[in-house]
Amino acid sequence: MEKILELISREVEEAFAADGYDKKYGRVTLSNRPDLCEYQCNGAMAAAKEYKCAPFLISDKIAESLSGNEMFESAESVKPGFLNLKLDADYLAGYLRQMSADEERLGCEKSKAPKTIMIDYGGPNVAKPLHVGHLRSAIIGESVKRIGRFMGHTMIGDVHLGDWGLQMGLIITELKERKPELVYFKEDYEGAYPEDAPFTISELEEIYPTASAKSKEDDSYKEAAMQATYELQHGRKGYQALLAHILNVSVSDLKRNYENLNVSFELWKGESDAQPFIPDMVQKMKDDGFAHMSEGALVVDVKEDTDTKEIPPCMILKSDGASLYNTTDLATIVWRMRDYHPDEIIYVVDKRQELYFTQVFRCARKTGLVSPETELKFLGFGTMNGKDGKPFKTREGGVMRLEYLVNEINEEMYKKISDNHTVEEEEGRKTAKMVALSAIKYGDLSNQAAKDYIFDVERFTSFEGNTGPYILYTIVRIKSILKKYQEQKTLPQDATILAAHSESEKALMLEISKFNSMMESAYTDTAPHKVCAYIYDLANAFNHFYHETKILAEMDETVQAGYICLLELTKRALEICIEVLGFAAPEKM
Ligand code: ARG
Repeated sequence: MEKILELISREVEEAFAADGYDKKYGRVTLSNRPDLCEYQCNGAMAAAKEYKCAPFLISDKIAESLSGNEMFESAESVKPGFLNLKLDADYLAGYLRQMSADEERLGCEKSKAPKTIMIDYGGPNVAKPLHVGHLRSAIIGESVKRIGRFMGHTMIGDVHLGDWGLQMGLIITELKERKPELVYFKEDYEGAYPEDAPFTISELEEIYPTASAKSKEDDSYKEAAMQATYELQHGRKGYQALLAHILNVSVSDLKRNYENLNVSFELWKGESDAQPFIPDMVQKMKDDGFAHMSEGALVVDVKEDTDTKEIPPCMILKSDGASLYNTTDLATIVWRMRDYHPDEIIYVVDKRQELYFTQVFRCARKTGLVSPETELKFLGFGTMNGKDGKPFKTREGGVMRLEYLVNEINEEMYKKISDNHTVEEEEGRKTAKMVALSAIKYGDLSNQAAKDYIFDVERFTSFEGNTGPYILYTIVRIKSILKKYQEQKTLPQDATILAAHSESEKALMLEISKFNSMMESAYTDTAPHKVCAYIYDLANAFNHFYHETKILAEMDETVQAGYICLLELTKRALEICIEVLGFAAPEKM
C-alpha cells in the first residue's frame, strides 16, 4: 500500500500544479501543531519567492481548490501562508480497511530490491559468562534483523563467537594444573579422545576467572598459557580436542541464555572459523602491495586525505607473526563474501570499537576483500549504566552476569503480578518472564542505540509510562475486550472499520495509519527505537479512546462491530511491532 503521506502529498501537489505552480511545493508533512490540524503543507511560503507574490495568495488558492476534495475534511489557509489539513474520516477509514485486509503486513510493502544482509551481533566470548555488555548487542541485533526480514530482506545473523585467543590457553593451563593425568595432555597419545568433556559449564566458568587472575600475578603461569595458546593454534591435537569440548559446553550454555532472551542466530561461527583464511589473505595483501612492514609489524595504511583525525594503520600481523583481532575480522569478511555474497554486513558492537571498525572497513575495501557494492555498516551502541550513571554493576559492585540480571527482573515481575491478583504459580511465572523480557528489551530499544542509557529496574518494570509492560498491558486489555465481545456475540460478516465517531477514535486511526512508513524508516535508519516510539503513541491513543468510549456497552451493533474491527487492527499493529522488537504478549497479566 502507498504511504498515506504520499497519497496526501500527491493530492496537494496536483492542486498546486492545477493552479499553475510547480508541484514540488505541494509536499505534505505531519502537523507540528496537532491541536490545529493533522497534516500541513508549507509549500506556499517557498513558492511565494519563486512566483513573487504574497504566500497567503497561494495558500488561499490551494485551499480553495481542495475544498470539496473527498480526501479532506478541511483544508485551511492560515497567515502568513500555511495550509492546514484535516483528513476526511471516511477516507481514513477506507485506508485502514485496506490495511486490515492484509493481516500479515498491514499493507506494508516488502522491499522491491531485496538484499542479502549479514548481521554480526551477540559477540559472546567462549568460557566467559555473558555479562550485561553483551545484552545490548543481542537485543539490538535481533531487532534489526527482524525488521530487515519483515521488509523482505534475507537476514543472516552470525554470533561471531570470541573463541580464539589467550582465554583458551588460560583454560588449558589451569586444567592441566588440576588434572594433569588427562589424556589431552599426553603428547604422544594417538588414540581417540573421550566424548564427554572433562568439566561442566559451572566448572568452566570458574576455571577461566581463576586462570585469568593467576596469570596476572604469575609470569610463568602467563608464559605457560601463551605457550598453550600457541600450540593450540598450531595444531596440537590434545588441545584441539579440549577446544572442541570447551566450545560444545559453552555453546549449549550460550544457546540456553539466548533462548531466554528470544534471540537466535542463523550461524554459530566464531573467530576460530576465520583462521584458515588468514595465510592466503595476508599473502595477497603483500603481493598486491597493500601490506608493508612498519616497526616490525605488517600493516596496511588506511588513512585518507579528508580525515580530520589520525586514523592509524590497520595491523595485520604482529612482529612475532601472530595474528590479531583485526586479522580475524578481515578473514571473517573473506568467508562471508565467499559463502554468502552479502550486499551488506552490519556489525552491532559497542561504540567504543568504532575507530577499530573504521580501520577494518577501510582495509577490507582497499585490499578488495569486499566488492565495491557491498556495504559495511557499523551500528555502535552506548553503555548500559546503573542509576548512579556508571556502567551497570551488581549490588556488590562486580560485573553483572546477564543471567542474574534476567532472573532478578523475572522475580521482580512475578512479585508485581502476584501482588495484583491471584495467579497460579506456573502461569504466573510464565507471564512474569514474558513481561520481564519486554521490560528489558523495550527499556533498551526505546533509546537510540548509540546513546548510553540508565537501566532503571523500577521504571522499566512499571506498567505505566513509556515501558514494555505498558505496551503489553495495552495489548492484553484489547485481547480481553475482544474476548468478552466474542463471548456475547459473533462479529457480523459485513463488520468493518467505520469513519471515526469521535476525536479520540480518529486520533487512534491516524496513529495506526503511520505503520508502513514507520516500519520502512526503522529499516532504512537501522532504528528499532522508531518502532518503540510508534507503539508508545499508538498505545496512548488507544487507551485514550478506550477511556472515552463505551465499547462493550455500545447499543448500535454496527458501530460496535466497527469498534471491534478497529481494535483488531490496533492489536495486530502492536503485535507485529513487538514481534520485530523481539518479545511477545501474554493472554492475561
Ligand atoms: N567478542 C567481542 C567482545 O566481546 C565482540 C565481537 C564483535 N564482533 C566483531 N566482528 N568483532 O568485545
